[in-house]
Amino acid sequence: MTIYEIITKKKHNVELSTAEINWVVEGYTLGKIPDYQMSALLMAVCFNSLSDRETVDLTMAMARSGDMLKPDTGGFNVDKHSTGGVGDKTTLIVAPIVASCGVFVPKMSGRGLGHTGGTIDKLESIPGFNTALSYEKFLEIVRTAGLAVAGQTGSLVPADKKIYALRNATATVDSIPLICSSIMSKKLATGADGIILDVKVGSGAFMKIAADAEKLAEQMVRVGKLAGRKVTAVLTDMDKPLGRTVGNSLEVIEAIEALKGKAPADLMEVSLTLAAEMIFTAGLGDESACKKMAEEAVTSGTALKKLRQMIELQGGNPEVTEDYSLFEKSKRQKEIFAAEDGYICGISCEETGMTSLKLGAGRETKESDVDPTAGIVFQKTVGDRVQKGEIVAVLHTSTDCDIDEIAEEFSNVFRYGSEKDCPPKKNIIKIIKGY
Ligand code: URA
Repeated sequence: MTIYEIITKKKHNVELSTAEINWVVEGYTLGKIPDYQMSALLMAVCFNSLSDRETVDLTMAMARSGDMLKPDTGGFNVDKHSTGGVGDKTTLIVAPIVASCGVFVPKMSGRGLGHTGGTIDKLESIPGFNTALSYEKFLEIVRTAGLAVAGQTGSLVPADKKIYALRNATATVDSIPLICSSIMSKKLATGADGIILDVKVGSGAFMKIAADAEKLAEQMVRVGKLAGRKVTAVLTDMDKPLGRTVGNSLEVIEAIEALKGKAPADLMEVSLTLAAEMIFTAGLGDESACKKMAEEAVTSGTALKKLRQMIELQGGNPEVTEDYSLFEKSKRQKEIFAAEDGYICGISCEETGMTSLKLGAGRETKESDVDPTAGIVFQKTVGDRVQKGEIVAVLHTSTDCDIDEIAEEFSNVFRYGSEKDCPPKKNIIKIIKGY
C-alpha cells in the first residue's frame, strides 16, 4: 500500500479499509508520511467525507496512537467535553455537582486558544492552584475528592496533535468526520465510562447551524457507542456569551456564585442539564431524579464544598469561595454604555471572545501568557430593556492594551431593537443519547 494510492482512492470517493486507515495514522504520527501528502488526503476527506465505519476506524487509530488511560477510581467515571464557547464555565460548576452525587469526574481540560476560553486558564487564576499534576497524583485526588481537573498528562493522542495542527494550516478543520475523530479520540483515550458532549451551536461556536451541530453530535454519539462507551450529546445555544462574565477569574467567581444558587438563568439551566445527564449516565436514577440530585447538590451546599476540597487538594486557597478579594484584581476598568433606548436583541459572541482576548484573557498563540484578571462583565444581556447611556458592560484588564480603542470596537457587539425583535431563544436545543 502507498499513500499515493490511498489519496487517489479518497479522491474518487472510494472507502478506505481499516488497514489503510491504521497505516496512514501510524505513518503520519511517526513522520513517515510527509505533511503535503497528509494535507492532500485531508482535503479529499473534506470533499468526499468518510463513512461511519471509516470514521470509527480513524477515531480508534488516533486514540491508540498514544497512551490509552484507564482511570482506576473504583467507581463510574464520567467525562464532559465542550466543543468550545465564550463564557463557558460549566465544567467548574458541573464537575463539583456530579462528584458530590457520588460519580467520579477525572477531567482533563485544555487551555484557551483563539476566541474561546479554556478551563485550565480559568482554574489557574485561583491563587496556588496547580493544574500540572502527574497522572498518579491526578488519580489520587479523584479517589479522595471524587474529582480533579488538570491539563493533559502523558502522551495522549499524538496523532491528533499533528493532524489538528496540519488541519489548522490547510483549511481542513470544518469536516464533520475529522472534528468527530479529533474530539472522540481524545475522549476515548482518557478512558471514561460515560461521556457528555456539550455541542455548542451559534455565532460563537464552531458549528454555526443547528443541522450541522446535530450531524456532528450524532456521529460522535455513534462512534462512542461502537467503542463501548455511554455517550450523550447536548446541543446548547452559543449565539450569545453564556452567563454574565467572560475572562478567567471573572468566570471562576461566576461559577462559585452558581454553586451558591446565584447564577444567571441560562448558565444555571445549561449546567444543571449537563450535570443531570452525567449523573444519569452513571445509572443513579431516572432523568427527573438525576435533575433533582443536581439541584439539591447546589441548594444543600455540598457541590460548593466539593469545589473547595478540590481547590485545596490541588494546592489552591479554598477561601477564594468566600472572599473574592483573594483573586488578583484588574488594574484598569472601562464602562460601556447603551447606544440606544430599547432592548438588547443580540450580543455578538465571537467578537466578545476576541475582545476578551485583546484585553489579555486569551492567548493568540499557545505560548502567550494570559492575564487572569482580564475580561468582560455584562451588566445587561439579551432580552434586557435599556436606556441610552446606561452601563451595559465593564471591561477589565491589567495589561497595557489600548482599552479605549477596544471599548470603542466592543460597543458594536450589542444589537438593539424593540421587544418583538428579541424573541426568547432556547438554551438547550436538543439531547441525543447513544444508549
Ligand atoms: N475540537 C477538537 O478537539 N478538534 C476539532 O477538530 C475541533 C474542535
